[in-house]
Amino acid sequence: MISKAETINRALDEAIPLIEPLNIHKAMRYAILAGGKRVRPILCLAACELVGGEERLTIQAACAVEMIHTMSLIKDDLPCMDNDDLRRGKPTTHKVFGESVAILSGGALLALAFEHLTEADVPSKKMVRVVKELAKSIGTKGLVAGQAKDLSSEGLDPNDVGLEDLEYIHVHKTGALLEASAVIGAVIGGGSEEEIEKVRGFARCIGLLFQVVDDILDETKSSEELGKTAGKDQVAGKLTYPKVMGLEKSKEFVKKLKREGKEHIQGFDSDKVKPLIALTNFIANRNN
Ligand code: IPE
Ligand code: IPE
Ligand code: MG
Ligand code: MG
Ligand code: MG
Repeated sequence: MISKAETINRALDEAIPLIEPLNIHKAMRYAILAGGKRVRPILCLAACELVGGEERLTIQAACAVEMIHTMSLIKDDLPCMDNDDLRRGKPTTHKVFGESVAILSGGALLALAFEHLTEADVPSKKMVRVVKELAKSIGTKGLVAGQAKDLSSEGLDPNDVGLEDLEYIHVHKTGALLEASAVIGAVIGGGSEEEIEKVRGFARCIGLLFQVVDDILDETKSSEELGKTAGKDQVAGKLTYPKVMGLEKSKEFVKKLKREGKEHIQGFDSDKVKPLIALTNFIANRNN
């Protein structure tokens, strides 16, 4: 996992040179090179490896999902959204560069993600499928829908909300991009339709799991450990798993999702599946 993260960091550094407009590129680099666990690009590379694909073909897609994720963090932290001052252990992009540059650099990361993705040495038909999968995961069928409901649900009484509403928020705001990251890795890697669907089933569980753990960490860790402000969900009145089902049941749910996720990829070669199993354990047991 560490070597995959290093490969991604190097590729991101190269993909976003410090060129004109300087302040926008500075902000893009500040936000994306600030650290981060690189879970989505690692997932993309590991899904490619699972189906026997070459890493070289997937590196642009891996960078693209991290660029999109970073865009979503810049926006999530804006005063009109979660209003956060700390991200990846540093002041948030809008705190350092101002709101307008932060918004523009987020837009630029999104655009560059698709430009960079299409530079991969992948046949056009496959590339169109990949572009569609990724685009679909971050608009009103995915991330945007989840973020919109996350914000409009602030302050609701958890007794008035069903688990379906909570799951909708988490599956969309976070799960969708994780699912797309894995699926595009498997598509580029040359997986069969059956293999791609197994990867999708796995990533659906892991995507939801990722956000349930994020909710738990917000309640149980410090800002130093997280590199972002702890305890914010309660202050903002967010709908979270610990709030709706309690901390212990949330932890049980994590275990269940972890088991279910692994079941989807049971049939694959035991060596090839190792990186995805390691990533699943990391996501479930992480401290930040
Ligand atoms: C944070 O994502 C936002 C969520 C979707 C919960 P990560 O926990 O992957 O953040 P980084 O990339 O490691 O900073
Ligand atoms: C963020 O969810 C989801 C996206 C960025 C799309 P959170 O608001 O819980 O993420 P953190 O806790 O600020 O990282
Ligand atoms: Mg948020
Ligand atoms: Mg937030
Ligand atoms: Mg959170």
